[in-house]
Amino acid sequence: MRILVTGGTGYIGSHTTVSLMQQGYDVTIVDNLSNSDKNVLDGIEQIVGKRPDFCQVDCLNEQALNQVFDTYKDIEAVIHFAASKAVGESVEKPLLYYRNNILSLINLLEAMHRHSVKHIVFSSSCTVYGQPDKDHLPVDETAPIQKALSPYGNTKQINEEIICDTAHSDASLNAIILRYFNPIGAHQSALIGELPNGVPNNLLPFVTQTAAGLRDKLRVFGNDYNTPDGSCIRDYIYVVDLAKAHVCAVERMLQGKTKEQVEVFNLGTGRGLSVLEILNTFMRVTGVTIPYEIAPRREGDIEKVWANPKKANEVLGWKADTPVEEVLLSAWNWEKHIRNLNN
Ligand code: NAD
Ligand code: WQD
Repeated sequence: MRILVTGGTGYIGSHTTVSLMQQGYDVTIVDNLSNSDKNVLDGIEQIVGKRPDFCQVDCLNEQALNQVFDTYKDIEAVIHFAASKAVGESVEKPLLYYRNNILSLINLLEAMHRHSVKHIVFSSSCTVYGQPDKDHLPVDETAPIQKALSPYGNTKQINEEIICDTAHSDASLNAIILRYFNPIGAHQSALIGELPNGVPNNLLPFVTQTAAGLRDKLRVFGNDYNTPDGSCIRDYIYVVDLAKAHVCAVERMLQGKTKEQVEVFNLGTGRGLSVLEILNTFMRVTGVTIPYEIAPRREGDIEKVWANPKKANEVLGWKADTPVEEVLLSAWNWEKHIRNLNN
């Protein structure tokens, strides 16, 4: 069984490729390497003992995308990770984000239709929920979608709608939309992980880069929120646990177990942790002191959000259960690996 993974050399895509291959799937990766490096394939090969097939193709290039389906006639399902994902950049360059994230999906759905590939798993985000009200915390899949706070977030909402409308018009299309909370950490081997471009915006890469001495100090954005310690709360999910959910989703579709043409699952741990809890736990488990200061709130930040993962637990038969201590250590081991630090 062959799975096409777009964005497969990226952070979540590479971990998912490992999980798929470890379950015996053949994987073809499509990636234009706009936010990843080809040597990620070496890391995957070292972990799995086999190299995934790789096509350096831009999903915006319809012809090249169709050629991939022509070449690999045994593709059974597609997992679509390829997208631009920097929230701040999307505010500055909205058209770039609308073009890349929306046209990539349209091209992919058309190519799938043309080649009679019926199953797609789509990477969405908890960002579609905005700040849920207190009746919807933890957030389940029935919580209302709120107006997106950024063009990036809007591309996720629009893409979800495109998938639903296409499924409505084409009874053979089967989709699973996965709304990720905050993915963190790296593979236990430290051979693959997150490779942020420039100064990281996300918390964990900023923490590990500060620990490695690349950044002077971490700025904790706000300690006056309505939370127990005043800092924001998120549901941090281990990327390897997240990767496994994709295998469950693909299997559910291939085994014909889906109950609706488009199913939606929240992928989180069900536990909210504050910025200061993450920071203190990181320092405790690694023994590294992180210089930090309390800084003003970051514009557009959600105060608190965490998942109710009951549906994914029960229906997908999946659970994110890696202890956060282990997850934070994996992030640190990866940072040390890429900086050639010894201990
Ligand atoms: P990533 O940037 O590491 O991976 C995305 C990959 O897609 C990169 O390798 C990039 O080169 C590739 N790509 C981008 N545009 C492409 C195009 N037009 N054609 C071919 N390849 C293209 O990002 P990630 O963190 O692995 O995220 C994967 C998916 O999950 C994205 O859709 C992202 O929006 C979504 N997501 C991520 C997070 C997160 O916090 N990381 C949270 C929720 C949802
Ligand atoms: C987490 C917490 C910050 C950096 C973003 C996207 C979202 C989704 C996941 C894709 C917040 C605080 C951070 C720092 C800090 N991506 N922080 N100092 O904002 O939950 O979500 O990534 O879909 O769409 O918006 O993640 O990692 O940026 O922040 O205090 O230097 O860490 O304020 O409370 P966020 P994050």
